[in-house]
This record gives sequence, C-alpha cells and structure tokens, in this order.
Amino acid sequence: MSFKASIITLYPDAFPGPLGVSILERAQREGLWSLETVDLREFGLGKHRQVDEKPAGGGAGLVLRPDVAAAAIDSLPRDGRPLIYPSPRGVPFSQPVAEQWAAGPGVIMFCGRFEGLDERVIEGREMIEVSLGDFILAGGEVAAMAMLEATLRLISGVAGNHASVEDESFANGLLEYPQYTLPREWEGRGTPEVLTSGNHKKVADWRNQQSEALTKARRPDLYAAFPNGPEIRASETDDEHD
Ligand SMILES: C[S@@+](CC[C@H](N)C(=O)[O-])C[C@H]1O[C@@H](n2cnc3c(N)ncnc32)[C@H](O)[C@@H]1O
Repeated sequence: MSFKASIITLYPDAFPGPLGVSILERAQREGLWSLETVDLREFGLGKHRQVDEKPAGGGAGLVLRPDVAAAAIDSLPRDGRPLIYPSPRGVPFSQPVAEQWAAGPGVIMFCGRFEGLDERVIEGREMIEVSLGDFILAGGEVAAMAMLEATLRLISGVAGNHASVEDESFANGLLEYPQYTLPREWEGRGTPEVLTSGNHKKVADWRNQQSEALTKARRPDLYAAFPNGPEIRASETDDEHD
C-alpha cells in the first residue's frame, strides 16, 4: 500500500517544493507515495473567498475560521490517516514520530497561517498538533514539508541504501559519528587512521565511541535517555559486520 499525503493549504503552489526532487521525486514516480494538495481558499466564504476573521476578544492578526477549515477537512475521506496540524504548541516532531507515520497509510496535514486556527475545529476534528521546534514560522507549509521529508525517506524502497537510514543520528537514540571521505589529507587535516584500517570491528567500535562522546557533549538530554549500554550496541554492530 502506498503512503498518501494530503495537504490543506492556502499556498498549494508551495508544493511539492523539496519533496519533488531527488529520492522523493523518484519514489513518487515509482508509486511509493503520493501527494495531493487541497486549496483552502476554495472553501472560503463570499465573493472574496474569505478564510479568516479577527480574533474574538481582540488582539493582533487574524484567525482561520473553523467552518472554512472544517469544510476543507471534510472534503477528504477520513480513511484512518492521522489529521495533523503543524503548530508550535504541539508535541515535538522527532524521528520516532516519523517512524510511526512511515509505518502507516499516510497523513492529512492542515497548514495554519496568520495567528493560527480557531480552537473549536482543532477539538472538533480531533487534530493532532505537532511542532517542528520552539520557533514561530509564518505558516505550516515548511513544517509540513520537513515532517513529510523525514517520514517519506523511511518508507521501504525510498532511500536506495536502507542501511544509511538505520545508521543515522537519532536512529539509535544517539547523534551520528563524524564522517570522512577522500582526499585522505585535506588542508593539513588527516582522516582518522582507524577508518582506513579495513578492520570492521575497530571501525564500528570507534564510531560507537564517537557517537556517544558527541551526544554526551552536545545533547546531554538525548544521552540521558539512551536506553542501551555501549556494550550492547558494540556487539550488535559486530554481528552486522562479521
Ligand atoms: C505565525 S504562526 C501562528 C503562531 C501562533 N499564533 C502561536 O503563537 O502559537 C502560523 C502557522 O504557522 C505554523 N507554524 C508556526 N510555527 C510552527 C512550528 N514551530 N511548528 C509547526 N508549525 C508551525 C502553524 O500552522 C501556525 O498556525
């Protein structure tokens, strides 16, 4: 079954954007996933297709109307896909969330604009608020694209070499080890000798150590939550390479 992404947005022309290049473009052509945009403006009211109104209680900006948002949402079949509202108030998006979505039939995403969406439609349509991070974007489109890109590349067959997906930062709860390529010497900086030794076990051990040291230094929060001890991971890596 192919993954289906439906995006409700005032700016359908913003899509596919980066979702339409490289491995995701190929994967879409091969039918591994599909993208549909729904133009929120088409559900707007009156001659000007108005989608927003002043906030109740006063204050700056405009709020997206619940009746207009619901009409757009209800134009799509509710076929088991989660209805996501990218929002700075939501649960933080993360690799485990991407993994969960990638294992399902797809997502419906509603891209907010202005001051956001009337609370009643968030409740009434059981929208799941998911945040890209602790900052404010102008709209949900970039957030939706980022969340989709992270999700789509986890779908089987999308990334050419699946080991590269399994080996990355967050895949095992840690940040990735430093990477090197040719030339071996560049501007007086060498490549760690162990990486050219041809000894897979030593390479795996070095990478594990580097991953752990980097995570401990840069993301102590992740390191504290790291579920497996280093020995367990080292032996897992041995099996992989032996
Ligand atoms: C200008 S923002 C509204 C921010 C809102 N007034 C607040 O303070 O929470 C407009 C839209 O951008 C999207 N957005 C902004 N920041 C986001 C973030 N960090 N994560 C996900 N979506 C975001 C949401 O869809 C939001 O409705």
